[in-house]
Amino acid sequence: MKTYIVGNWKMNLTIGESSIYLQKLLKRIKPAKGLEIAVAPSVIALQPLRMQIDKIKSKVKLAVQNFYHRDYGAYTGEVSIMQLRGLVDYAIIGHSERRYLFNETNKDIRQKVAAAIRNGITPILCIGETENEKSFGETVDVIKDQLNSGLSEIDAEDVKKVIIAYEPVWAISSNKGARLAAPDDVAESINTIREELKAIYGSAVAEEVAVLYGGSVNPNNAGAYLTIPGVNGLLIGGSSLISDHFIDIIETAKRVKG
Ligand code: PGA
Repeated sequence: MKTYIVGNWKMNLTIGESSIYLQKLLKRIKPAKGLEIAVAPSVIALQPLRMQIDKIKSKVKLAVQNFYHRDYGAYTGEVSIMQLRGLVDYAIIGHSERRYLFNETNKDIRQKVAAAIRNGITPILCIGETENEKSFGETVDVIKDQLNSGLSEIDAEDVKKVIIAYEPVWAISSNKGARLAAPDDVAESINTIREELKAIYGSAVAEEVAVLYGGSVNPNNAGAYLTIPGVNGLLIGGSSLISDHFIDIIETAKRVKG
């Protein structure tokens, strides 16, 4: 199983800043077997970054942060995943900011997962409970519900191409009062995800699905999250905006998983 280190830049960095960051990343990181590195810049930066990567035949991957589930048509202002073919390898879907700030429903998310698979792009399906849901003891139910719903159009063959990212909403650094998730709590949720994948698709298939952790990951705690059994990588927001921190986390991943 590969290890995935994915940086989600959210709505930060201009095209120029994104390009300078990438240049530094491409220069500093050495390819390592089994390690996949991806960044998710703003959609406007995807094309120039793609050219930068292709020019030196780097293995660094690009991810899109959002798209519309239909392939083409009269949907003013939207970008389809079909239009992103050739530009990105991954698509972040169901991020809590999309769910809660932009009211994306489980149905939207399910359609996006299906659209990504249909277009040969790897979905990174984000799931995770809010502070409120956690305090009511609903974590397991929320995880199962978001997982089942997000994957409801995906069969056993295609689910192997899906990456799941567990991101407890209360641990995401940009949320007010965010706090670090204890590795033991993360381990429990990862276990819930793996058990549910097993229940839906059987254990052989479930073992092939990569599961990442995300939520206030930084160079100091990356090693602890990466050593949780069943964790195959990290989805990083705030810390990925500082290239030195992101590179540090990549180095940690090489040490821990190499
Ligand atoms: P964070 O964000 O690393 O800043 O907590 C993670 C995410 O939103 O994916």
